Parts: sequence; structure tokens; C-alpha cells
Amino acid sequence: MQVIGLLLLVVGGMVAQSRPMSNTSMSDTEIRAYLPRLLEPGQREANISAVDGQHLHDLVVRLKAKRVLEIGTAKGYSAIWLAMGLRKTGGQLVTLEIHEAYQAVARDHLAATGLSPFVDARLVDALEAVPDIEGPFDLVFIDAIKTDYLRYYEMVLDKVRKGGVIAAHNVTSNAQQLQDFLTRIKSDPAVRTEFFGGSPRGLSLSYRK
Ligand SMILES: C[S@@+](CC[C@H](N)C(=O)[O-])C[C@H]1O[C@@H](n2cnc3c(N)ncnc32)[C@H](O)[C@@H]1O
Repeated sequence: MQVIGLLLLVVGGMVAQSRPMSNTSMSDTEIRAYLPRLLEPGQREANISAVDGQHLHDLVVRLKAKRVLEIGTAKGYSAIWLAMGLRKTGGQLVTLEIHEAYQAVARDHLAATGLSPFVDARLVDALEAVPDIEGPFDLVFIDAIKTDYLRYYEMVLDKVRKGGVIAAHNVTSNAQQLQDFLTRIKSDPAVRTEFFGGSPRGLSLSYRK
């Protein structure tokens, strides 16, 4: 009798682990299969790539991140990868988008995947909103207008905890526009910067010292 009870507990635990957290949430495998529908023809360059997404997801898990800030939600592709990590760590993503139409699409995708509980999606101008958002953050991901990156970096630097990361997308594809930002993250004694070699358009990771 005790053996049967134990077996039921083990099997029940395995089922619970492989199931989404609620009836409407998708498993990681289901979300990975869902994600390509966000990559509409002609708009792919607006999103990070799947390898970047996997890298950011893994970073969230490795940092045991509880608080992540994203600047530039668009349709929610990168937000979904970040939120997939955050549901494992019990954390939350604050993601900022200036365009209502984009944000509405992102909200729909987050709801469809069941990740909405892990995301605070704000319709704001990040240049105005970020200074008023309280830290600390474990990870900040910058992926908005390229010429604003240095401003965002300066706004968030003191909101990132020691050992936390400021990540930025398009650091190779848009290196010309990002020159001031790149010079800063490579020389700033407040961070140690590395570059994810597998990223198609470039992903920098600046670890806060
Ligand atoms: C490259 S897309 C983001 C892609 C997204 N991170 C992804 O990988 O799925 C840049 C987004 O930043 C938004 N954006 C640009 N300037 C902004 C601002 N000042 N405040 C908030 N969002 C902004 C744009 O509307 C656009 O949706």
C-alpha cells in the first residue's frame, strides 16, 4: 500500500513537472513551436534570433534572475524567451514599448503562451520612463532605437545589481550607429563586457562589477 502511494506521488510529480503551470499555459516545447509565427516575412530583422533568445533564456536561469527589464518589446519575441526563463526562477519581466499596435500584438502572444503572469508590459516612452523605474535588476536587455543605447546604458547602470548584466542587441549589425555605446561598454570600469559569438546580429553582455 505504501509502495503504491509512493509510486502515485512520483508519477504525479512527473506529470506536474511536464505540464504547463496553468491549463492555458504552454510547455517550453510548445512555446518553441509557437515562436516562428511571430517571425513574419519582412519583419524578421525586428526580432532577436532564436539563438539569442535561447542565450538570454539561459542567462536568466543562470543568474537566478527575479527582475528583468527589457527596452523595446515589439511583438514580444524576446519577451517570450525571457519570460520562459523567468517562470523557472519565479521572476518577472518589465518590458517597455512605445507603439500601441506592437504592444497589443505582444500582449496577445504572451496570453496565448500563458506567460502573461510573468510579464509587466508597459506602453511608455522608455527614454522618459526608465529613470523612474526602481531597481535593482538582474538583467536589462536593450533593443530599441540604436542611437539611444548609450542613454539607456547610463540610465540603468546603477539599477543593475553586482553580477547582473546589461545586454544589448545588434552590436555587430549596427556597430556604426552604436560606436559611442560600444566604446563605453568596452572601457567602462563598472562592467566587464563579453560578446555572444553565436549571435547573428550581435549580442553584448556587460556584467556589473
Ligand atoms: C528591434 S524592436 C524590439 C524587438 C524585440 N526586442 C524582439 O526581439 O522581439 C525595437 C522596438 O523598440 C521600440 N522602441 C523604440 N523606441 C522606444 C522608446 N523610446 N520607448 C519604448 N519603446 C521604443 C520600437 O517601437 C520597437 O518595437
